Amino acid sequence: MIYLLTGCAGFIGSQIGKKLLERGHQVIGVDNLNDYYDTRLKEYRLKNLSQYDSFTFKKLNIANFQALEVLFQYHEFDGIFNIAARAGVRASVDQPWLYYDTNTSGTLNILECCRRSGIRKLVQASTSSVYGLNETPFRIEDNTDRVISPYAASKKAAETLCHSYHYIYGLDIAIPRYFSVYGPAGRPDMAYFKFMVAIDQGRAIDIYGDGEQARDFTFVGDVAEASIRAMDLEGYNIMNVGDDNPVKLNQVVSLLEELLGKKAECNYLPRHPADNLVTWSDISHTRKLLDWEPEVAIEEGLRRVVDWYKANRDWVQGLKI
Ligand SMILES: NC(=O)c1ccc[n+]([C@@H]2O[C@H](COP(=O)([O-])OP(=O)(O)OC[C@H]3O[C@@H](n4cnc5c(N)ncnc54)[C@H](O)[C@@H]3O)[C@@H](O)[C@H]2O)c1
Repeated sequence: MIYLLTGCAGFIGSQIGKKLLERGHQVIGVDNLNDYYDTRLKEYRLKNLSQYDSFTFKKLNIANFQALEVLFQYHEFDGIFNIAARAGVRASVDQPWLYYDTNTSGTLNILECCRRSGIRKLVQASTSSVYGLNETPFRIEDNTDRVISPYAASKKAAETLCHSYHYIYGLDIAIPRYFSVYGPAGRPDMAYFKFMVAIDQGRAIDIYGDGEQARDFTFVGDVAEASIRAMDLEGYNIMNVGDDNPVKLNQVVSLLEELLGKKAECNYLPRHPADNLVTWSDISHTRKLLDWEPEVAIEEGLRRVVDWYKANRDWVQGLKI
């Protein structure tokens, strides 16, 4: 199969790409390589993908409809993984238009290109942030109208556009809602990554709130597997892709201390109002839909993250974080 993978230089996109390539598929990857975080990490992931002959990279902004149109004229895709996005909750408060342009208009551009080219299958990355302040565990039946950040609003808008294209044109669209994804070569703006480097360097870590907030940390390999299985679904399907095991931030700090053999110095700061207190996925529906189960528990997943960090310590410490 030939797949278009947007956001291929990103954390999750690169892992989806790797699994697709390992399974013998052809992947056309696009990414605009923006500098939301250090682009050396994106180049590192691209280099890993470029080892496969069946991978092609094109630098492209999905918010640019004309550029996407040209890409679709030159390739025939069996399906699209639209994983590219601006993905920072707090950054979206400062730059709401940027988030809307990429996450909402960018998704609309992909949908229009699918319609015009007769491509019927799309996996559209979404987020647990659409659940806002709902009671946990979050279920796909929950009301997701009351989001609490421009990021979540931009992703919710993308979901609703997908539904309208499914309804009018019959596209098969699968929408995995990811929960706090972590893993080796992850995003340096995420707490576990910043904590790991700071603890190792003997610097204090900033914790927004009392550290008792919990996240349903989900290992990136499990997320990539669920996303690929979702491509085979027919119709319009939303699903939670989480670990079903919320872990407190303070517990993540303890695990990192253990793995690094160093003690953390913690600065507790006021909680950011756009941050959720708890995220927790109800994945009963996903288990049945995808015949999928998260396989890597937090202790093992963080061990793999720290092993990767130790193997690349000098280089990672040089990254802008
Ligand atoms: N990491 C998580 O915990 C998490 C949780 C929920 C949802 N998600 C979603 O998963 C997806 C991937 O997130 P990630 O954590 O891998 O983030 P990431 O920032 O590492 O990856 C996103 C990639 O998209 C690219 N990109 C951004 N804007 C683009 C544009 N206009 N055109 C082309 N490429 C563009 C970026 O350069 C980046 O390489 C996103 O859709 C995000 O909203 C992630």
